[in-house]
Amino acid sequence: MRYQLGSDQIPQAWFNVAPHLPEPLAPPLHPGTGEPVGPDDLAPLFPMALIGQEMSAEEWIPIPPEVIEVLSLWRPTPLVRATRLEKALGTPARIYYKDESVSPAGSHKPNTAVPQIFYNQAEGITRIATETGAGQWGSAVSFATQLYGLECQVYMVAASYRQKPYRRVMMETWGGQVVSSPSSLTEFGRQLLKENPDHTGSLGVAISEAVEDAVGRADTHYALGSVLNHVLLHQTVIGLEAKRQLAEAGEGLPNVVIGSCGGGSNLGGIALPFVPDRGEGVRLVAVEPTSCPTLTKGTYEYDFGDVAGMTPKMLMHTLGHDFIPPPIHAGGLRYHGDSPIISSLVKHGWMEAVAYPQGTVFEAAVQFARTQGSIPAPETAHAIRAVIDEALAAKESGEEKVILFSYSGHGLLDLAAYDDYLHDRLIDG
Ligand SMILES: Cc1ncc(COP(=O)(O)O)c(C=O)c1O
Repeated sequence: MRYQLGSDQIPQAWFNVAPHLPEPLAPPLHPGTGEPVGPDDLAPLFPMALIGQEMSAEEWIPIPPEVIEVLSLWRPTPLVRATRLEKALGTPARIYYKDESVSPAGSHKPNTAVPQIFYNQAEGITRIATETGAGQWGSAVSFATQLYGLECQVYMVAASYRQKPYRRVMMETWGGQVVSSPSSLTEFGRQLLKENPDHTGSLGVAISEAVEDAVGRADTHYALGSVLNHVLLHQTVIGLEAKRQLAEAGEGLPNVVIGSCGGGSNLGGIALPFVPDRGEGVRLVAVEPTSCPTLTKGTYEYDFGDVAGMTPKMLMHTLGHDFIPPPIHAGGLRYHGDSPIISSLVKHGWMEAVAYPQGTVFEAAVQFARTQGSIPAPETAHAIRAVIDEALAAKESGEEKVILFSYSGHGLLDLAAYDDYLHDRLIDG
């Protein structure tokens, strides 16, 4: 069962959770001085419009009509009730997923790539440097830069560059230039390659390279696909639409909202619009890999967003900025830190966090594919694992729970991972 909104029902404003948080967000600190950063410190990296959104305390921020026009290529996305999965599980729970895989890049990432590139173009920037893990973010930025006529340099984490050649082809089709990270294009990359020519890379390393690139050129800005407040802000279209669609489905509020969490943008997108509903008993759940257990095992402290220590320090859950996660298939979940917003919610007990090893995650992915048909991205499959466990718990207790989750991306360019799982080559853990 699908619940579809009309194209005139795309949200007209993003929801800013800042005024609803348990306490005001701690300011990012300058990597050199340790003092709180101001707009001028961020100006070499981001356009002023995004810096303003990063620091805004306004509850609603209007979406420019030019951005809505592009979003309407695939938004609103469908809300689907997973009745066949429910039946297979024998659960009384009702499971709904917001299908973000229908975007051109196949994930939620274009929801923020489009406005980010729009604001950069409006301020005269002609080139973007960025990182990508699984390749989803790089695809989204390549797509958006192509639409707005900017050049795009993508630093793609080496482990994913090897695992996912077709993601690179996708980025190149949209005009992006893609290099395996660590690369020889930056000083930091050259240093790492000298120490270890087979470095598998990480999001933290790729961010260092993209930041170094952007800082070194006046025509270039940096774009980050997760973690920052403005990125989560742009993703709230997911939860805002879902709220409306759940009402159309005859539901009230969901009992639980679930999303996989790398840097927190997909989870923030589906969950943040429900933060004001916590009082009504809505639970929010983050799902991460046990091999990169930032929220479940990390410490809550100021840390750099990248490996080289070039970005401002943020107060967040972190495994240490030099932590290099093992090369699991969910490349988008291999990040040492987390969004300060998500971290604050978890720290204050307003959001739960669970972690799963990839074997059980792929088992859930295959169960989903064999009931609902769609083949999820490995990142998305983390959420599906938690959804299935929630639904089984509801079966045990006989509760008629409503479960909402973000189907953050399809796995059609992740089939090598499925091949490993189906033929007993997947390294669990
Ligand atoms: C399909 C998909 N889901 C989830 C994520 C996790 O990232 P984030 O926590 O920023 O949403 C990614 C990251 O690349 C992704 O590609």
